[in-house]
This record gives sequence, structure tokens and C-alpha cells, in this order.
Amino acid sequence: QWTPGHIIDDAIARIRRQVGSDRVILGLSGGVDSSVAAALIHRAIGEQLTCVFVDNGLLRLNEGDQVMATFARNMGVKVIRVDAEERFLSALAGVADPERKRKIIGGLFVDIFEEESNKLTDAKWLAQGTIYPDVIESAGAKTGKAHNIKSHHNVGGLPDTMKLQLLEPLRELFKDEVRAIGEELGLPHAMVWRHPFPGPGLGVRILGEVKKEYADVLRLADAIYIEELYRTGHYDKISQAFAVFLPVKSVGVMGDGRTYEYVVALRAVETKDFMTAGWYPLPYADMAHISNRIINEVKGINRVVYDISSKPPATIEWE
Ligand code: XMP
Repeated sequence: QWTPGHIIDDAIARIRRQVGSDRVILGLSGGVDSSVAAALIHRAIGEQLTCVFVDNGLLRLNEGDQVMATFARNMGVKVIRVDAEERFLSALAGVADPERKRKIIGGLFVDIFEEESNKLTDAKWLAQGTIYPDVIESAGAKTGKAHNIKSHHNVGGLPDTMKLQLLEPLRELFKDEVRAIGEELGLPHAMVWRHPFPGPGLGVRILGEVKKEYADVLRLADAIYIEELYRTGHYDKISQAFAVFLPVKSVGVMGDGRTYEYVVALRAVETKDFMTAGWYPLPYADMAHISNRIINEVKGINRVVYDISSKPPATIEWE
């Protein structure tokens, strides 16, 4: 009989058998999969696990602090936080092409992760939150069956030059099982049921060149949008929702003055597999309230639009 408790016990026994008294490192992104992997491995081997959390400056509002609070403070997991915002932003300066942006962000992540793990000279294992659908997808990619429309980058995909053995305790599990064991392990509900967030983060939600000023504006708008989706009960009915920063200025009026500021687009989709998706019919009254809040509360935005494109032909992300 299958229960989250059984899966956990089984996984813990396996992890202990596999790694013995070796040290393990794990790249923590704050997403569901790496978070559950971290919690599970920590339950199995405690202090033998060290997590590396790279803050690339492209995370959502307060995300880095939340990851540290959950893992380091509440659970006692060893987490090295690398503040790499400047490195990422300077590498991205002047780059507008979406694929180049992805490659830069993915490549820099690997470099930084390697630098940190080289400092942990006695680590023998690299843990990853690979889940069953990832295994299938990458098998497809090798036989050329998967359509690599955008080069997806995850915490995975590290080079073989790292002389570490792979530890992938979620490899046989589906997303709903991963969530169930995450809750059983005591991770916060909001972390376990969170919408997916792409590896390149806000880097692909700021169209064209990424600037800190844009990221700061986008973080505030996105936080208001998501807060309102929770408050109105829509969040759990939506598969993925986020705000997108458009580096386009348009004219507005505020009081008796004229404004000339940027645009934010709101995206919300329903999907089973993220291969096709429909836009979510958010009620007009909720749209109106969210739009008013963003325009009133976020300096630099004077116009909000709602994305009514399905996938295909549009993708879920804008880049
Ligand atoms: P698209 O935009 O291709 O997105 O319709 C499908 C799903 O994949 C996510 N996504 C990514 N996830 N690295 C990731 O880890 C990436 O580079 C990436 N690009 C898109 C997207 O958020 C959506 O859930």
C-alpha cells in the first residue's frame, strides 16, 4: 500500500545505503523538486548534506530570504547562499536575445555552482531533484524526439567534469508524489504547491535586455498579482501565473500630470502537461482590482495588459 510515509522511509533507507558516511552537495533553487530532495536527503543524512543556493538577482520578491528561512533557520539544513546578482546582471548587460540570455544564465549558474562545490573538497555526491518526467524528457531528447523549442536550463545539466556521483532520490516519482512527500516532510504548503518557476527566472520575464531597475519593478508587480490570486482563490486553479515586464513606454495621466512609463503584462494559464495551455479566464472585477493596485503601488508602471494567447502558438513564457 502506497503512502507518502512509505515512500519517505524507503527513500531514506536507500539514500543511507548509497552514500554511507560520504558528503553530499545539492543545488537548491527554491523550486518544489530541489526543495523536496533537500528535505528528504537532510532527513536521511543530516549534517552530511550541504546545499548551495545561488541568488542570481532574478528571483521573485523575498524569495532568497524565504529559502533561507525555510531550510537554514527552520529545518537546520546547511545552506551556503551565494549572492551573485552583480555577476549575473553584468554578464547580461547589453544582451537582448532570449537564447543568449538563457545560455549566459545557465552557464554562469554552472560556473558558480562549481566554484562553491570545489570548496567542499570532501563531497562525493551531487544530489539533484530530477523527477520521473525529467528522466523521460531527457531520454526523448537523446533520441531526438523532444522538441527543444527553447533551451531549458535547470539546476541539472552540470558538466561531467565534476567528479561526483549522482544522487537522485526523486527519479521514480511523479510531481504529485513529490508534493505529497514534501508536505509529509514538513515543507510549507505554499512552497510545495507553488507554480513552476523557470531556471532563468525573471531573466526570461523581462523582455530584451535585463536591468536591475526592471527586475525590481517586475518583482513588485508580480508579488501584487500573486497575492491577489491567492486572496481571490484563483491561485490553486491556475497552473502558472506571473507578470512580464515590457520595456515599452506609454503615456498616462496621474492626478493632473502626464506620465510616460512601462507596461506590465499578466499571464495565467491552465494546462495539464505544459505542452499545450489555455489562458485562464480571470474575472474582469479581479483584473480591474489587480491592475489598479499595480499602477497605484508600483512606481514606473502606468499600464497593465492581460495575455489572452494560448499555447500553441504562443508559449507560456514570453521568451
Ligand atoms: P514555455 O514558455 O516553453 O514553458 O511554454 C513551458 C514550461 O517550462 C517552463 N520553462 C522553463 N523551465 N528552464 C526551466 O526550468 C527554462 O529555461 C524554462 N523555460 C520555460 C515554463 O515556466 C513553463 O512552466
